[in-house]
This record gives sequence, structure tokens and C-alpha cells, in this order.
Amino acid sequence: MRLSFWELPPSEGGETADHEPMEPFHYLADRLRCEAVSLDAVAERFGTPTYVYSRAAILGNYRRLSTSLGRIPSLICYSVKANSHLCILRLLREAGAGFDVVSGGELARAVRVGADPGRIVFSGVGKTVAEIDAGLAAGILMFNVESAGELDLLESRARALGKRADFAVRVNPDVVAETHPYISTGQIVHKFGVPKEEAAELYRRAARSEWLRARGAACHIGSQILEVEPFLKALDEILGVAQALKSTDVEVEFLDLGGGYGIRYAAEQPLALDRLVEGIAARLQGTSFRLIVEPGRAIVGDAGALLARVLFVKRNQQKNFIVVDAGMNDLMRPTLYGSYHEIVPVERRSREKLTVDVVGPICETGDFLAQDREMGDVAPGNLLAILTVGAYGYVLASNYNTRPRPAEVMVDGEKAELIRPRERLDDLMADEVA
Ligand code: LLP
Repeated sequence: MRLSFWELPPSEGGETADHEPMEPFHYLADRLRCEAVSLDAVAERFGTPTYVYSRAAILGNYRRLSTSLGRIPSLICYSVKANSHLCILRLLREAGAGFDVVSGGELARAVRVGADPGRIVFSGVGKTVAEIDAGLAAGILMFNVESAGELDLLESRARALGKRADFAVRVNPDVVAETHPYISTGQIVHKFGVPKEEAAELYRRAARSEWLRARGAACHIGSQILEVEPFLKALDEILGVAQALKSTDVEVEFLDLGGGYGIRYAAEQPLALDRLVEGIAARLQGTSFRLIVEPGRAIVGDAGALLARVLFVKRNQQKNFIVVDAGMNDLMRPTLYGSYHEIVPVERRSREKLTVDVVGPICETGDFLAQDREMGDVAPGNLLAILTVGAYGYVLASNYNTRPRPAEVMVDGEKAELIRPRERLDDLMADEVA
């Protein structure tokens, strides 16, 4: 088990004491840094709350995945929903990634950073006419179709625009994957995809239209999955669907396994990527299928932290509350999923340990970032970093309580660049009619 930040000895060089590669967020002389930038300097310059990302961590995660996929013919389509900032999309596009998008907005972002449309897949159960038209106009690799109704709409829009639509059917493989129920997607009770029997029927129906071309079979079983087996079961299902098609003269090229690769938030073992890749390779050997994966969290999750400042410390007979200037509107995951994010002080020194709730300023009891957490004592004015928030952090932020969304900063070595300023109150009210 990795030691928590509280227990790690101060790191001096590029490696932590046990010679793991350097963590994106680490201490030097008891000051928390992102790469070579002190986070107190970031707070000083840009204020709080602020999301801070490590460029090296994002690229490192992408390259590790790409290396471990190695000889499997494959395409990594980064799942834009995890963190859709243009700067991150551009970085990943330059590194060779394609994109998984789920809305016209995400498609527009991918197009904005110059993504190769031939590397964009479009998922989602509720695509609108405008979104389908945008995908057709861009000439994307494929629409991952999730219902008979969507296939019919795709056909009619392709016909209307005179552009053939390439598609995959998203199969619901009915696989149980242990994760939070809100982010499990691969069982028959979930709204996603179609059962494999129906998938076969959709491919048959599509084969009768000159405006539709089957390119793949797709699935996505959920998010933050730590076990290898559910992925391999799902792959077996779509492989079965794709192979059965051959007897009907439909040949698909791509098997899209979706995303969901689980990372470490606390003490959990992250998904054993090497074992997953081994299992995939064994199944695809001797076939001509190409693999698509749609990782989001695994690329950006550990590359981001949210910097917050302690406003007040409150104690009563039962509880210690640390009130910080970031709330559930800035980071929704603890409230929405009860998820755990490590919270560490920017300045590390020996402190008495207390059991605390770290809470935000919002007028809801659900507004917490940590509950019953053992942490070193802190005082008003201290800075805290909430870790592993690079995925599903900023993208889920809202303006609840008329709170402007945080600033975002990208760190590259010794450089910290403001990549999105904190929202201004004027922005929030600009289009309202009083
Ligand atoms: N592909 C599809 C079709 C998806 O629906 C998703 C995530 C992904 C790929 C990327 O999954 P990832 O590799 O990031 O696990 N807000 C939640 C997570 C929702 C995931 C939704 N779909 C959270 O904060 O945990």
C-alpha cells in the first residue's frame, strides 16, 4: 500500500524515497508542489479555489497506456467528459489520442483542437438531430448507436445530408462490474446499449441501407472498475457479436471496449492494466479486429488537485468542522457518490491529529469534501489540496449559490499557466433578463 502524504518523508530529487516515479503532487522541504511549482505560490498568484493540473502526469498516463497496449492494433479515444479543457485535449491530440465524445459540445471541443475526425467516436443514449448532423458533417470514425430509434434517425439524417454514417452498435453485455451504482452501466437494468440479440438485428437492418456502414461493435461497462475480469467478459460478448456478423457478410473492424479503468483514490489497488492487456491480446490474436479504448479517469484523474483555503475551524461537542472556500459546486464527487479524495496540507508540519469533516460554504448538509477524516489540525488561512480530482472535477462544477467556478492552472515543470480564469460574477449574470 502506498503511504499517504502525511507519512511520506520529504522528497528531495526526482524520485520518492521508495524510488517510485515522482508523484505529480509531492512535497519538497515540506511544501506541496505540482511538478516543480509550489502550490502556495499558485494560490498566491491565482487565488483559491483553483484546479491545478500536471502536464507531465497527463502525458505520462497516456504514454503508459499506449505503451502497454503495445503491439495490439489499437486507438486510444480519450473520454472528453472526464476533463474537457481545450488545453488537455490539445495535449492529448498532439500525443496521438483520438476522442470519445457524448455531445455536440464535446465534439465541438475536439474539432476546436484540430482532432482528426477519423479518430472520434460518438457515444451516448440521447443524441439529437443537431448532434448527429454535426457528427456527420465532421466525418467522425463512428457513432456508437444505443437503440433502434437512434439507428433509424442516423439513417434518415445520413440520407438527408447525403453523407454515409459509420456506426457501431453499443452492446449491453449484461456484465456485473463492482463500482458505485450510479456509474455502473453494463447490466441489462441500465439504460445503456442494446442486448446482443437486438444488436444482431440492428446490424441486419443497417445492411439494407446504403446510408449506413457498420464499422464496429462497442460496449462500456462502467467507471472506476478495479477488476480485470468484467472487461474481458464484456470483450468476449462484443467479440462474439462481431464474429457472428461474418456469417451475414457484415465485416466490422473495430471492437470498442469503452473506458472505466479504475485508479487509486485511497488504498485500493488500481486496475491491473498489464493483465487486462494480456487478456485482450490473447482474445484478439489471429483476428483482424482493431481495439478502441475510451479511458478518461485513468488519463487525467491523478493529474489534478483542487487548492482550497481554510476559512474557519468550528468545534462542537461532537464534531470538528474545517470550513474551506471550495464546496460541492466546485467538486461534486464526494456529495454525489460519497467518494474519497485525499486532502493534504500545502505546508506540512507536525500537527495534532483530529477527526474532522471538511466542508464547503454551501447551504446544504451534503456540502462536504470529506467526512470523519483523520487529519492534522489546521488553522484559518492554511491551504489544503484535495487530490485526484483531475477527472470529473471541474466538468461537474456548477454555479450553485451563485458561486463562480474556480480557476484552472496547468503546470509544466517550473511554469504555471492560467488556462482558465476564475469566472466573474458579471459572466454569471450576463445573459439574464432582470
Ligand atoms: N466511455 C463511455 C461511453 C463512458 O460513458 C465513460 C464514462 C467513459 C468512456 C470514460 O470512463 P472512465 O475511463 O473515465 O471511467 N462522474 C463519474 C464518472 C462517470 C463516468 C461516465 N462515463 C465520477 O465522477 O466518478
